[in-house]
Amino acid sequence: MPGLKGPSDYLQEPPRHPSLKINAKQPFNAEPPRSALIASYVTPVDFFYKRNHGPIPVVDDIERYSVLIRGLIDNPRELFMRDIKMLPKYNVTATLQCAGNRRTAMSKVKTVKGVGWDVSAIGNGVWGGAKLADVLELVGISKLTSTTKSGGKHVEFVSIDKCKEENGGPYKASIPLSRATNPDADVVIAYEMNGEPLNRDHGYPLRVVVPGVIGARSVKWLDCINIIAEESQGFFMQKDYKMFPPSVNWDNINWSTSRPQMDFPVQSAICSLEDVTAIKPGKVKVSGYAASGGGRGIDRVDVSVDGGKTWVEASRYQKPGAQYISDDMNSDKWAWVLFDVTVDAPQSTEIVVKAVDSAANIQPENVQEIWNLRGILNTSWHRVQVRVGHSNM
Ligand code: MTE
Repeated sequence: MPGLKGPSDYLQEPPRHPSLKINAKQPFNAEPPRSALIASYVTPVDFFYKRNHGPIPVVDDIERYSVLIRGLIDNPRELFMRDIKMLPKYNVTATLQCAGNRRTAMSKVKTVKGVGWDVSAIGNGVWGGAKLADVLELVGISKLTSTTKSGGKHVEFVSIDKCKEENGGPYKASIPLSRATNPDADVVIAYEMNGEPLNRDHGYPLRVVVPGVIGARSVKWLDCINIIAEESQGFFMQKDYKMFPPSVNWDNINWSTSRPQMDFPVQSAICSLEDVTAIKPGKVKVSGYAASGGGRGIDRVDVSVDGGKTWVEASRYQKPGAQYISDDMNSDKWAWVLFDVTVDAPQSTEIVVKAVDSAANIQPENVQEIWNLRGILNTSWHRVQVRVGHSNM
């Protein structure tokens, strides 16, 4: 639809909170200060990290905006906002995390390619919209389908924004049809974030949210949905966001030997302290977030004040006043868990956190073991230094 939607020039980018740390201006990539993440369980839109591979598009005629569903199906259909909004509305609380979260720390071991992120390329949002499983029923694909009659096995989301990695083509990603049509996977076509219409930074008018999966698959500014036989051949599925061992470098890489990353592994980070924080001797509050992919809860968060020799267990919570129990009916299975514990720090030391998820997966001790050339999935123990002094603090 000419003139209806397209990338903005950079001058038209939306207003943003001044405290965001801008990691790249064009395309715009920014994260909030650590402390903003632990100020609330649901991350305010202003403090939600913004991760873009191209200019932010403008959709200015919402009446004419539509999403085309086509491919290996009998009845392709163009869906307008009113069609999506007529479906039952769900509010799914889900943590989005960029696979590049904590990349800066990984790049200290050896150079990696990609935007540098501290620990805040993560946020917990309430995503309001229709379930993808319901949307796909509108084109004749029943719930819990893994192959369509014509051989469709994957659902590809194609965006409006254009990226240089796609040679000026749109950003795209796919998920298996079995996940897309499973109502329990809670994949949503969202038009709201935290109860407000999505803003431009986060995908207005419609974005996909794939809970428990690296953020790269939650395509913003949705343009069309293709039902295809193989997974998307897009750059960000085939030549990026894949995990390789430390021995793989830019000379010997064979992208086809690794699958596109989907679920993210168990992660945690301290947000109440910076990399080096000066404190007075005595009690120090250690708080932060822990999250795991695939809907796995957080069974434990351990904090050490002696660089990992001994540990204490932190208390975990999602909603204020309610004790968090992993996999309990009342916990948000796709959402992070905040933790805190007060420890004694009589002298300068390294404070460390690691989390354990409900499958007993545990974060790796050292970043060296998981170093990879794209600098993704740095889930090593998060460490901060505290410098204890007696005066002028
Ligand atoms: N969708 C489009 N169309 N273009 C993008 O650049 N970035 C992806 C994903 N969806 C991206 C996209 C990546 S890598 C991440 S981590 C999340 O969006 C970030 O979502 P956010 O900016 O709303 O936090």
